[in-house]
Amino acid sequence: MKRGLFISFEGIDGAGKSTHVAWSADLLRAQGIALTLTREPGGTVLGEKLRELLLATEGQIHPETEALLMFAARRQHLEEVIYPALARGDCVLCDRFTDASFAYQGGGRGVEKRKLATLEAWVHPELQPDLTVLFDVSAEVGQARVGRIKSPDRFERENSAFFVRVREAYLERLKESPRRFVRLDSTRAIGDVQAELKQKLLVALSQWQT
Ligand code: TYD
Repeated sequence: MKRGLFISFEGIDGAGKSTHVAWSADLLRAQGIALTLTREPGGTVLGEKLRELLLATEGQIHPETEALLMFAARRQHLEEVIYPALARGDCVLCDRFTDASFAYQGGGRGVEKRKLATLEAWVHPELQPDLTVLFDVSAEVGQARVGRIKSPDRFERENSAFFVRVREAYLERLKESPRRFVRLDSTRAIGDVQAELKQKLLVALSQWQT
């Protein structure tokens, strides 16, 4: 049986990712595609508990501890959700994946890229998303949108310089894997972003189906 299609969605906080992920799920369901919609950190009982700890605002977490917990959640997520869904032939839509660790823990927190690459090779040596959609906005635009959130989480509380680094690390990952990534300028009106998003998703879908 044909392996499923693995699509991840990325972007700095405030890029509008969550809205676009939900919209993408509706679009693909309407095409009759069997879908698994999931997120990181999270997606499993253990992973959601780790997410709570990681996003909580009290206490300190060392950057490398944070990276290890992200990958621990990911290992469980792959085992319980992603690998079985791909084996069933589902289209897996994942709200963040390993690029987020390179962007946030690497770029944002300064964890060495070499260490993150070791974790990546350990946790999913064979697997990469078939398509990664990067919703791209500047740190200023992201910050302005996140500023309206009533109770921001541990990442949403970070300053503009942090998100400048996160965005740069995302763009570096894109440069390293240009065929896997699609960058959508998400400062545009939502309808314009979604028109381009739809086109990219349908191209990925037709390549997968042929
Ligand atoms: P996010 O995806 O923005 O969800 P919501 O839309 O519900 O706020 O929240 C997840 C946060 O976790 C986000 O700020 C980025 C962070 N994160 C990392 O730092 N590293 C990772 O590897 C992953 C998957 C997420």
